[in-house]
Amino acid sequence: MSNLAAIIDQFTLSATQARDIAGAFAAAMDDGLAGRPSSLKMLPSYLSLPTGDERGVYLALDFGGSNVRVQEVELLGGGRWHIRRHTAAPLRDPAGAYDHTVATATAEELFAFIAGQIAAVADPGTDYLLGHTFSFPCRQTDASHAELLSWTKEIKTAGVEGREVNGLLAAALERRGLGRIKPVAVINDTVGTLLAAAYCDLAADIAAICGTGHNTCYYDASRAMIINMESGNFDRLPLTPWDDALDAASERPGAQRLEKAVAGRYLGELVRRVAAGLGHEAGPPLTLATEALVGPGVPAPLREIAAAVFTRSARLVAATFGGVLASVDPAMSRRHTIAVDGSLYEKTPGYPAALAAALAEILGAKADLVSLRLVKDGSGAGAAIAAAVTRRQPRPCRPASSPGGC
Ligand code: GLC
Repeated sequence: MSNLAAIIDQFTLSATQARDIAGAFAAAMDDGLAGRPSSLKMLPSYLSLPTGDERGVYLALDFGGSNVRVQEVELLGGGRWHIRRHTAAPLRDPAGAYDHTVATATAEELFAFIAGQIAAVADPGTDYLLGHTFSFPCRQTDASHAELLSWTKEIKTAGVEGREVNGLLAAALERRGLGRIKPVAVINDTVGTLLAAAYCDLAADIAAICGTGHNTCYYDASRAMIINMESGNFDRLPLTPWDDALDAASERPGAQRLEKAVAGRYLGELVRRVAAGLGHEAGPPLTLATEALVGPGVPAPLREIAAAVFTRSARLVAATFGGVLASVDPAMSRRHTIAVDGSLYEKTPGYPAALAAALAEILGAKADLVSLRLVKDGSGAGAAIAAAVTRRQPRPCRPASSPGGC
């Protein structure tokens, strides 16, 4: 076997391995729910699924990684919504003017910046309820309050860990004279994706982000609540020496082992490390746009490595979906829609197909009961739905020109 073939072999996940991972994942879910030690945090969202008839105009803040997005969302009922206005800004200025993600940046600076983005979208004369998609592991005490447990995705801003993020946001809004905007819901992006999917699809009960980061949530019928698993931290996985080296060089060695093997933030770096070991120059990490790695024009060995790493990502994610399904519906007695958002899933050629094929392999004859569906911008509409579900205060509904939804 050539060097390259031997490496690719190590990144190849067999059907048996995928089934074992699904079983280990389901066991980790049980442990986490029962309060036993588990790599899955199983965080309660305090939110149930929407009816699809929630209505009104809300602000949605999406803080999940490199960009902050704000949307004014009108929920129209009947599973439809309309984005009336929106803005997006990077937390780190590409020209170097500011960086709110480094350890020398403070919580106050970060949330003042976010309040500025909200000001750019909010109508000056309107009172709003705001739904906040905050895509990091949080301990929630109810649907509106969430304390950041620890930063992920290599963000290091000081003074946010251990603090209640909607409190920081509300204080920043007050300081800017925007006290009429009330943050009433805080959700993980997976939860937003599930809320947006379930707004128009009764079978939607699992949602994942396959983007810069990776995580999955599901609707737990026995608790009548969506649970954010923080599945990126799952660690019972057959990983390679390259995964271990990447982990050792990361901000938090030992943490987020699944995420480091599957998410866009890390895949380019993983490919670069494997290629460098074989003497192929793959450029510095940041030039490796994940979608570009599997496209034409990439040298053949590099493309093979990238294909193996990306396919493994899809198969690992599918294995965890198999675990969730085994936990929520062991007999596979009903239909399930798994909503997926994120650039890796949306933009990597072949990724959704590889994920679907691996899931079908795990589920066998029951595979027809499960649909995978791309749900875009769930964190915007989902945050608005969360705000509506939290308050259940319908507001006047204005006609919309081009409704979204499904
Ligand atoms: C990271 C975060 C998680 C989020 C995921 C996708 O894993 O910890 O909360 O859902 O990225 O954005």
